[in-house]
Amino acid sequence: MKAPACGTPTARKYLDFVGGLAVNVLGHAHPVVAAAVAEQARQLIHTSNLYYTTPMIALAKLLVENSCLDRVFFCNSGAEAIEAAIKLARRVGYDTKNGAYEIIATQDGFHGRTMGAVAATGTARYRDPFQPLAPGFSHVPWNDLEAIKAATTDKTVAVLLEPIQGEAGVNLPAPGYLKGIREWCDERGLLLILDEIQTGIGRTGTLFAYEQEGVEPDIMCLAKGLAGGVAIGAMLAREEIAKHLVPGDHGTTFGANPLATATGLAALGFIIENKLPEQAARASERLMARLRSMEDRLPVVTEVRGRGLLIAVGLSKDVSADVVAAARERGLPGQQRAPQRRPPHAAPHRHGRRNRPRLRHPRGIHPGGNGRRGEIAPPGNEHERGPLPHGSGPRGFACRGRAPATQQGEAGGALRSRVTLPAAPGQSGTRGDGAPGSPARRPAIRRGALRRSGVRG
Ligand SMILES: Cc1ncc(COP(=O)(O)O)c(C=O)c1O
Repeated sequence: MKAPACGTPTARKYLDFVGGLAVNVLGHAHPVVAAAVAEQARQLIHTSNLYYTTPMIALAKLLVENSCLDRVFFCNSGAEAIEAAIKLARRVGYDTKNGAYEIIATQDGFHGRTMGAVAATGTARYRDPFQPLAPGFSHVPWNDLEAIKAATTDKTVAVLLEPIQGEAGVNLPAPGYLKGIREWCDERGLLLILDEIQTGIGRTGTLFAYEQEGVEPDIMCLAKGLAGGVAIGAMLAREEIAKHLVPGDHGTTFGANPLATATGLAALGFIIENKLPEQAARASERLMARLRSMEDRLPVVTEVRGRGLLIAVGLSKDVSADVVAAARERGLPGQQRAPQRRPPHAAPHRHGRRNRPRLRHPRGIHPGGNGRRGEIAPPGNEHERGPLPHGSGPRGFACRGRAPATQQGEAGGALRSRVTLPAAPGQSGTRGDGAPGSPARRPAIRRGALRRSGVRG
């Protein structure tokens, strides 16, 4: 892959280890992505969402075959995927739970900037200036299962959270936390909505972060890296949940457009075929080992935490702005709060090495914490800148089956990717019966694992 280096009008070069805030999972100008954009643009960029197009179906098929979910609604951003999930959950509450509508989310969780997503977001500074917010959201402390239980009422329809809190500074779930939430949701008939917008598409070392937690969501939101840099969002849901959205309930003009979905098909196919999540896990081991050795040696490094290539380095408060500024000065932009690294999964190891010394010897920073402020650039931004089962169900949903058995994503140049989708399953119908959250519908063996091995769960 091409090195993730970006030039500027002043010919200054930066090594982009923020990865477009977890979007550029294949780096910049990846030939597979570039070829997919060019090829699709020559054919069909947009149709109305009254029609199916082949790339939309093929990407939906690839997603369901590699996840525990059955249906896909495509949109254009993470916030839109969250909005769709909120609407779907409320529709399920309306249909099956006496109009239950409350959603329990976590404090410090981040779900986007649109009004529903802001209401779900658990950070006061993103919420307070935009009152009044949509009602029906409560926020409980992260990693506190008992708080979720205590917040549950007969009006609760869902629990929404990130498997790892990203914007909050890469907060990992305590062992058993997500499993405990899954069990509680099963017990109380609640939907578990996972926001994998940042953690998904291989970022944490598996295609989706839930795979490492032994849980499966009822609804999952994706965006960011799904199309290798082209704007896209997706909400995935289990069959018996998705069917509650009916035509006319929800939709979006640009959602599932051929350009985004063809690029998503090429990017995701490349990621899966080349086992980039596993590569991210291996790169993480090396990077984390080196960062952890800094933790032992440098008093200003207070904590190194993360999973896969979603990593935060905790720094003592008095130096954090200076470290971020010094790293940026040396061409390695990061985020302040806890400087975070979201390098492309395919970043060559030498870039991982380059990443390390810049953190180890930030210019102008003394381990004791007295940065020579006059020598370094001002700190950077603290945070991010600003169905269709072929005939029924909501517009924009696509399901597995009946898609073309193979869809080829051709790449120009040295890198060629042939994305071969598995043959369409011979059976149709729903899997996992039972009411939402019913323990009976959860087989002992994880369905995603079954599906990947070719066996239907
Ligand atoms: C976990 C999470 N959810 C939702 C969003 C919102 O996505 P978007 O900016 O594409 O609307 C983000 C963006 O950073 C995110 O990190």
